Amino acid sequence: MKLRETRVWRALFRHPLPGSPKERISVITSALILHLHPARVKESAIKIRHTFCLGGITAFLFVLEMVTGVFLMFYYHPSPEHAYQDMEALREIVSFGVMRDLHRWAGHLMVITVFLHMVRVFITGAYKPPREFNWIVGVLLLVLTLSMSFTGYLLPWDQVSLWAVTVASNVAASLPFPGARTLLLGDHTVSGATLLRFYVLHCAALPLLAVILMALHFWRIRKDGGIAGPL
Ligand code: HEM
Repeated sequence: MKLRETRVWRALFRHPLPGSPKERISVITSALILHLHPARVKESAIKIRHTFCLGGITAFLFVLEMVTGVFLMFYYHPSPEHAYQDMEALREIVSFGVMRDLHRWAGHLMVITVFLHMVRVFITGAYKPPREFNWIVGVLLLVLTLSMSFTGYLLPWDQVSLWAVTVASNVAASLPFPGARTLLLGDHTVSGATLLRFYVLHCAALPLLAVILMALHFWRIRKDGGIAGPL
């Protein structure tokens, strides 16, 4: 039996194979996944070589970070007494400890793909009206991605992360906002209070903000008429 004649296929896709433009539009508007795109999109815009799916890959990596991150939360304690040992144990003895490496590598990759995605949007001129608002949302998402990466860096509580955060927080001290450094660290130096602060930012506050902004980003793409085609 052909796949398209099976009950499962028909349950998922209500419409027969499209013929007229009207039928094709109804296939798009009545399917959950296809409905991500507006009813009419430029063929050139959805070609893989136009976007390289970099935004989609970034979104996928974010979901991977959430899933692997939840696994890590079952084990990791955000306190100076336990953090480093927990991290070592995750690498050596804990079942599913591979989640830690996955989390780390996907995090690095996400920083690279979000940057490449921004470069692609810039090169194809997709930041121009009517998409300028979505460009601003994107800039916020870039800042959030870098902030998630930065806050996660301290959590292993090893020498590299301690000194990296010390250096970065000294940069914050040079900002024209008095108290920016203390607000970030929760103390005068990197301490247990900083670890807790970074943990909450990394696991709750920043991902929540990112989810809200991503929803806005995707909704805007849809409302701006789908992906902008080549100029
Ligand atoms: C977590 C970060 C981000 C995610 C998950 C994300 C996701 C996406 C996705 C899935 C698309 C559809 C096209 C594609 O796959 O390339 C898209 C389009 C777009 N993104 Fe992002 N994005 C992010 C960050 C950014 C950044 C940093 C910018 C720019 C500063 C940006 C600006 C845009 C614009 C203007 C569009 C519309 C492009 C077009 O119509 O061709 N995004 N984004």
